[in-house]
Amino acid sequence: MAQFRLPANSKIVSGKTYKAAPGAKDVRAFKIYRFDPDSGENPRVDTYEVDMTTCGPMVLDALIKIKNEIDSTLTFRRSCREGICGSCAMNIDGLNTLACTKACDDVKGAVKIYPLPHMPVVKDLVPDLTNFYAQYAAVKPWLQTRTPAPPDRERLQSKEDQERIDRPAACILCACCSTSCPSYWWNSDRYLGPAALLAAYRWIIDSRDEATGERLDALEDPFRLYRCHTIMNCTEACPKDLNPARAIAEIKKKIVERNH
Ligand code: SF4
Ligand code: SF4
Ligand code: FES
Repeated sequence: MAQFRLPANSKIVSGKTYKAAPGAKDVRAFKIYRFDPDSGENPRVDTYEVDMTTCGPMVLDALIKIKNEIDSTLTFRRSCREGICGSCAMNIDGLNTLACTKACDDVKGAVKIYPLPHMPVVKDLVPDLTNFYAQYAAVKPWLQTRTPAPPDRERLQSKEDQERIDRPAACILCACCSTSCPSYWWNSDRYLGPAALLAAYRWIIDSRDEATGERLDALEDPFRLYRCHTIMNCTEACPKDLNPARAIAEIKKKIVERNH
């Protein structure tokens, strides 16, 4: 019988515990994944006790406080702290979400924080999104036209046509959806994943775009599109309440319709 061994440094070990200062009144534990691929050491989970009386309400507030006051080596991404940039996406309490919009009070017990799943880790909570961004670029997320633009104004569209792209265009590319998708976990080298497919859909249904046929041609492939098995994790995970699963189903429908 075949035997498989995990790489020696893949096991997550217990890390350090940073105790709260004596006298802290409202102490909350944050258990955070730590990994530095350059160190040669195993990943570990460090525990930080935070006095919540001097901390903001969101998980990102706690991460910033830990980095500023307890352990400056903790590494994570963040920028807007408004749920707009997508930088702070991570796995909190078992769900992919944005640290800046996740309230600590929404988590029971210790707050467990890991990087987005099934991605290479650059350090600690920072996943390597190189492939994810390349897949986004592969769907050509820009307006493609054949006819010349009107000489005196922009290419216009009706209010109804604009409203059709309004929600898909609200994607902040946080990757919560793609990294929650089992099909993407196993085939991310060939399956585009829900985020890139939502972006493709946004341009396929744009009334001003004139490359719909080419866009559908590029997706009509057993892996790029059809690895989606409608498991719906992506839509569950989206912190912006978007529906990539439905967008993928709509793309499949459009391919069927044009082939008949
Ligand atoms: S619906 Fe498709 S894209 Fe979304 S999680 Fe399921 S398999 Fe992945
Ligand atoms: S669809 Fe939602 S979860 Fe996916 S990348 Fe866009 S905003 Fe993030
Ligand atoms: S910091 Fe920008 S979305 Fe969280």
